[in-house]
Amino acid sequence: MNKMLVRSGRQLQGEVNISSAKNAILPIIAASILSSDTCTIENAPMLRDVFVICDVLKTINAKISIKNIEDKIIINTSDLVCEEPDSDLVRKMRASFLIMGPMIARFKKFKISFPGGCNIGTRPIDLHLKGFASLGAQVSFGHGYVEAYANKLVGSRIYLDFPSVGATENIMMAAVLAEGETVIENAASEPEVEDLANFLKRMGAQIYGAGTDTIRIIGVKELKGVKYRPIPDRIEAGTFMAAAAITKSRIKLNGVNEEHLKPIIAKLVEVGVIVIPDKDGIIIDGKNNFNPIDIKTMPYPGFPTDMQAQMMSLLCTVHGTSVITETIFENRFMHASELEKMGANIKINGRCAIVEGVDTLTGSEVKATDLRAGAALIIAGLIADGYTKIRDIYHIDRGYVNIEEKFKQLGANIERIEE
Ligand code: UD1
Repeated sequence: MNKMLVRSGRQLQGEVNISSAKNAILPIIAASILSSDTCTIENAPMLRDVFVICDVLKTINAKISIKNIEDKIIINTSDLVCEEPDSDLVRKMRASFLIMGPMIARFKKFKISFPGGCNIGTRPIDLHLKGFASLGAQVSFGHGYVEAYANKLVGSRIYLDFPSVGATENIMMAAVLAEGETVIENAASEPEVEDLANFLKRMGAQIYGAGTDTIRIIGVKELKGVKYRPIPDRIEAGTFMAAAAITKSRIKLNGVNEEHLKPIIAKLVEVGVIVIPDKDGIIIDGKNNFNPIDIKTMPYPGFPTDMQAQMMSLLCTVHGTSVITETIFENRFMHASELEKMGANIKINGRCAIVEGVDTLTGSEVKATDLRAGAALIIAGLIADGYTKIRDIYHIDRGYVNIEEKFKQLGANIERIEE
């Protein structure tokens, strides 16, 4: 079993290149179902979740070539079959469900097992299904499966009760080949939703307003294959920013989109971190004294839930009381008890975490309970006395490209060990 061993005592320095966004490439790979031409994804992050969605598609006959060295993924779905994809693979990752929208668009029917995913809450799919039904699909579920069937999909007006990222993406992909106009109201406006829309537009889709809360889609007859480079990963960037802050270091992040990072930068600046835009990137400097802050996770452009755990690690070391409110997922504080093993002082009260900054964290054996929780433990390990051993790091590999290599390049004392 692989573990991550992190030793403290070193400041970070130098530069790190940010990879393309996991949450952008997953729906983009799903969207390649919508054309029987070849799609090529450039600068693709070589991540476990990316391999899983590719494997899911392979089980329904997609031809996918993953070029590790060139960071390229070439997908051809011309021989795709409308069969049920391997359920063990589907259950490995919630984002597998993103193939449902494009599959219904292309074949007018599809059956798939309920998706799995990170252990951060119940994560229903009702909004996805409501969207498919509104486009004219008959949706049924039971015995762990969801099934949809339609004579044809017809555009409609869909109001999402919550601006779900996945539901917005899935409905958008179902609607691009539907007859007439679809309007998604209270849509998610995350940069990854906009990136998927940009990919679909390159393929020939007509989509307006992606990146806002109202997305209008005019159905087209067919889509063509394209080459595409997804946006940089704002959460990976935020993770390195939090790591620089906690270690009081100065580092440069290359290849980021500063606009997408605004909600994260705003909170880091409030803590006291210096953030300087630089040519092709940003510089993070943690030399100042820090202040405790309050954070509430919200849909974009609010503070992202995917950065909550990493910020908690930072705030554990900032004198005073910080309050973190998690509004997106109901069970996303599992990292708190792991941080407590390292000497953190955190009290959980429902959706609020009250964090009292402590003088020192101490290295300990801890467990990555989910992807971002794992990243948070690495960040804490960078300043905890002694060494921190993190188990279940397969979660971290789902969403970070070569994380220990990138940290090593910045001078951190971190290694992957087999035990
Ligand atoms: C995506 C991201 C994930 C991020 C999350 C919130 C991907 C692959 N994953 O996940 O990293 O943490 O956005 O920014 O892009 N909900 C419903 N019914 C639904 C769908 C969602 O009630 O049908 C609820 C969820 O339970 C949750 C909230 O909506 O409480 C947000 O979920 P959603 O935005 O859908 O997250 P994902 O797309 O799964």
